[in-house]
Amino acid sequence: MMGPSSQGLGRRLSMLLSLDLVNFEWKIFPDGESYFRLLSKVDDSVVLVHSLTPPQDKRIVELFFLLKLLSDYRAKDIILVIPYLAYMRQDKRFLDGEIVSVEVLADLLKTYDIDRYVFVDVHSGEVLKFFGNRAMEVSAFPLIGDFLSKYHLINPIVIAPDAKAFKYAETVAKIIGAESDYIVKRRDRSSGAVESELKEFNVGGRDVILVDDIISTGGTMINAIKILKEHGANRVFACCTHGLFIGNAVINMFNAGVYDIISTDTIESYYSRVSVAPAIASAIKSIIK
Ligand code: R5P
Repeated sequence: MMGPSSQGLGRRLSMLLSLDLVNFEWKIFPDGESYFRLLSKVDDSVVLVHSLTPPQDKRIVELFFLLKLLSDYRAKDIILVIPYLAYMRQDKRFLDGEIVSVEVLADLLKTYDIDRYVFVDVHSGEVLKFFGNRAMEVSAFPLIGDFLSKYHLINPIVIAPDAKAFKYAETVAKIIGAESDYIVKRRDRSSGAVESELKEFNVGGRDVILVDDIISTGGTMINAIKILKEHGANRVFACCTHGLFIGNAVINMFNAGVYDIISTDTIESYYSRVSVAPAIASAIKSIIK
């Protein structure tokens, strides 16, 4: 069963796993309220795929409507796949008095008897803790690495735009047989402004693969792209799992000098060049074996 935001990924997953699709009617009333009506039987185990993409709060309400239907119509086990977990970046109180939003979401989901959760690249280990031992995380980066290995890259280096994303850079670098490193990034927690600084490494004339979990406003990538271009990088590829691409993020990245943008179908867009369906399918197979 796939929610409105995961139609493509849900179909790819059902094909890989040879699962039947659950049919439902979905519409939005003129005043903006969502309506769902289940049209298939769900009295067996169900895999619900529903990405919490913008508008996140609406997607969250839809998720609870779908879970309520599955519970009312007695789905046996529920495996909930949330490819993009909204609010995962608010996983602690960075400033006193802040809400830990992802914890609220995890607490609300505990109202339903969800057997397993599957997430994709959840930003930090802290996030998983809120969901307990029923949570599994899969990564898109091995698939992004496979995708990039088909390119003819010139003396490539894989760089993370901050230290936190270095583990993703290492994964991709290993697959394409390149070096990896990271840029030092500082973010002002109140204004959100980002400053980046290149460490001592040589990118002159080389293709650079930038990798991060999320591209939102593009600010992090843009700083990195500008620095890399200033240091003589050849082509810069901006790769991420979750391409939110808010506002003019894409155009601003091209203006900064990016050569290409590669994201996945956790958030479906023009730049969803890699599908995370194989990674999620393996996770589900390991659950239902
Ligand atoms: C932050 O730690 C994340 O890994 C991303 O670097 C960040 O969320 C990207 O946001 P933006 O595109 O707005 O800079």
